[in-house]
Amino acid sequence: MIDTSLLINTTVTRHSRINEIDPKNLPFGKYFSDHMFIADYKDGEWQDFKIMPYGPLPMSPSISALHYGQEIFEGMKAHRTDAGVVQLFRPLENLKRMNASAQRMCMPNIPENVFMDGILQMVRLDNKWVLGEEGCSLYIRPFMFATDEALGVKTSGSFRFIVLTSPTGPYYSDPVRMKIETKFARAFEGGVGFTKAAGNYGVSLYPARLAQQEGYTQVIWTDAKDHEYIEEAGMMNVMFVIGNTLITPSISGNTILSGITRDSLITLAKDWNMKVEERRVSVKEIINGINSGDLTEAFGVGTAATVALISAIGYNGKDYIVPVNNPESFSKRVAKHINNIRKGRAEDIHGWMVKV
Ligand code: COI
Repeated sequence: MIDTSLLINTTVTRHSRINEIDPKNLPFGKYFSDHMFIADYKDGEWQDFKIMPYGPLPMSPSISALHYGQEIFEGMKAHRTDAGVVQLFRPLENLKRMNASAQRMCMPNIPENVFMDGILQMVRLDNKWVLGEEGCSLYIRPFMFATDEALGVKTSGSFRFIVLTSPTGPYYSDPVRMKIETKFARAFEGGVGFTKAAGNYGVSLYPARLAQQEGYTQVIWTDAKDHEYIEEAGMMNVMFVIGNTLITPSISGNTILSGITRDSLITLAKDWNMKVEERRVSVKEIINGINSGDLTEAFGVGTAATVALISAIGYNGKDYIVPVNNPESFSKRVAKHINNIRKGRAEDIHGWMVKV
């Protein structure tokens, strides 16, 4: 068990809201648990650690995060096993990625003890919010933003780190329809596409809205230069099965998020002796694969969505239909297996789960 010795000034709510939620109706990110963790960065160090009741915070309208977008976040989950044990899924991977985002956005690193102790002590306090019902989990949203009161375009000297948690059911309950985006771009070489910077999500809203007006759930991003190569899907990484090979765009450029669910699925595919290719994936290859029947699966993978089956891919005004009904498909088997690891029903051979 990870040591949780950080001194956190804790104020416990007198009115838990746990009875206000219905485990059968938990849209993603709509409800928040009773408490939040807050830490402040001032004079070159993290300090003022507190857990307090979730609620509004006073804030100056001049903080630089509001003007220049110096904000990064993470997404992770706590699960309750069938035996009632609460566990986090690969939390140190989120910390690693958060600190990579922080470096690119000129923000301070979060030390491991601040990240882990803050989350662990808070999830322990709010542990009844980790619902055991099938498909439910506690989504954990750590985020950091610049708090200097200044309108000059320069990096802030003060920052706030907050962790919120939100009980949630499945992000997508049905297979999704994705449009291959050929006009707008999310990321470009040298930019911040590999980070979880808030702006990456802000720029996605307008193209997503246009795609939704055409009947799609989200877009599949392509490279900013020629729109010939697949990058990621909406707010998920994207994977395909062609023959017996799992194919996914490589994250070796800096335009694609290094997904923890993506990495977990690649590891499991290799455990199961499946061939895995991380490489450039052209739109042409995907469309040809669907047309020839060689492409048998397409799906998005991410913390919020876990595994989201793709039933149709729209490209240049035409829909290409992808099979989603095979109960033996890799995507269905791996989604079930990951869930089994989280629920304590399958052996956690890679040591991914961290007990709360
Ligand atoms: C996650 O899967 O945690 C994400 O970051 C997606 C989120 C923007 C809903």
